[in-house]
Amino acid sequence: MKNNILTENTVAENSTTDNTVAKLQQPSGKFTLERIPKTTKGDLRAWDAADELLLSHVFEKQLKKTDQTILIINDSFGALATALHQYPIHSWSDSYLAHIAAFNNFKLNQLDSNDYRAIPSSENLSQHYSLVIIKIPKTLGLLEDQLSRLKAYINADTTIIASAMSKHIHTSTLNTFEKIIGTTTTSRATKKARLIFSNNDNEKSHPSPYPKTFRDDAHDLTLVNHANVFAKDRLDIGSRFLIEQLGQCPSSKHIVDLGCGNGALGIIASRLQPQARLSFIDESYGAVKSSEQSYKLNNNDKTINANFYTNDCFNQFKAETTDTTDGVDLILCNPPFHQNHSVGDQIAWQMLRQSHEQLVNNGEIWVIGNRHLGYHVKLKKLFGNCKTITSNKKFVVLSAFKSDK
Ligand SMILES: C[S@@+](CC[C@H](N)C(=O)[O-])C[C@H]1O[C@@H](n2cnc3c(N)ncnc32)[C@H](O)[C@@H]1O
Repeated sequence: MKNNILTENTVAENSTTDNTVAKLQQPSGKFTLERIPKTTKGDLRAWDAADELLLSHVFEKQLKKTDQTILIINDSFGALATALHQYPIHSWSDSYLAHIAAFNNFKLNQLDSNDYRAIPSSENLSQHYSLVIIKIPKTLGLLEDQLSRLKAYINADTTIIASAMSKHIHTSTLNTFEKIIGTTTTSRATKKARLIFSNNDNEKSHPSPYPKTFRDDAHDLTLVNHANVFAKDRLDIGSRFLIEQLGQCPSSKHIVDLGCGNGALGIIASRLQPQARLSFIDESYGAVKSSEQSYKLNNNDKTINANFYTNDCFNQFKAETTDTTDGVDLILCNPPFHQNHSVGDQIAWQMLRQSHEQLVNNGEIWVIGNRHLGYHVKLKKLFGNCKTITSNKKFVVLSAFKSDK
């Protein structure tokens, strides 16, 4: 598994000094913050009221008590880390994009990121923390996994504060804190956000139930899913629909499963085309680990002919692989249509645009999507062609080829 090296230079080309970008005002300064990918949607900022509430509580009540490293879990775009930049920060996240956004935002605000450490969710923590701040993730499974793995690195004196928009705090969220950490209370709502306070007084141990493994007998697949990976316990119906068409794909030398999740598409493609080299790419650390473990399980514990990359689509992909791989001639993609809680097509656009750049002449992309997402319009615009392979009431499978002419 290859994690792109994270440094403050990772996304330098994405940074901007555009002073129309939203600014977060905090006791530690006023910060320009960007999301990744950047968005033209005016209402999407790199932080929300839950981040603001958490920060104001931490600045008012907690920082006097800590001179140690603060652990931040699930900082969406680095807003929390940027505002707390004068403290040593460890940021534990399943999202590579979240980590590069944090480095980007440190850079945008000319802050020193030497004391900022990005820890992928695929790695365990390795030290004790006295202050842990958590942004509640979208999936309950990820929260359960993170709290279970956190437990060994906190003691009775550790302060644990979480936050989310009130509509994202459910009884099951609070029960998960109670079950794993201990007595849990919430604050009153401010600007529709609330804080969660959890005391580490539950002595029962609760090992993480992740990763989980499931079988899909119809395709003779065994798939491993770490917490947060798309399609938790069964093959997604869209992925299944694309899998059923993969026998029609052109014979290829280098196939990329872009946004691979647990790797189901690439694993089936490698079975149908044993001559091909496979690259699995995802921005979720857990997804990349899942696809590697799934691939091994379905290939007698071997990863011959396959590489696994934690990456933002194809950014820097060429540089890493030119000496070992042939050009990419087939890309399989089931693009995401949301990022955290917001729906949008920026990542789908980036996947399709970068696929066009990456493919060799006559190379093809095969895409599955809900019919209403209109990927045929994007493919036509980028590739100048688009063919419908098949469709049903809900999904459409499309292909497009690159023509240098
Ligand atoms: C709809 S899921 C598809 C998963 C899998 N290919 C399948 O069909 O079951 C989309 C995947 O894209 C990944 N993703 C989102 N943003 C990405 C990015 N910028 N670069 C690479 N992968 C990304 C998500 O983590 C998720 O695993």
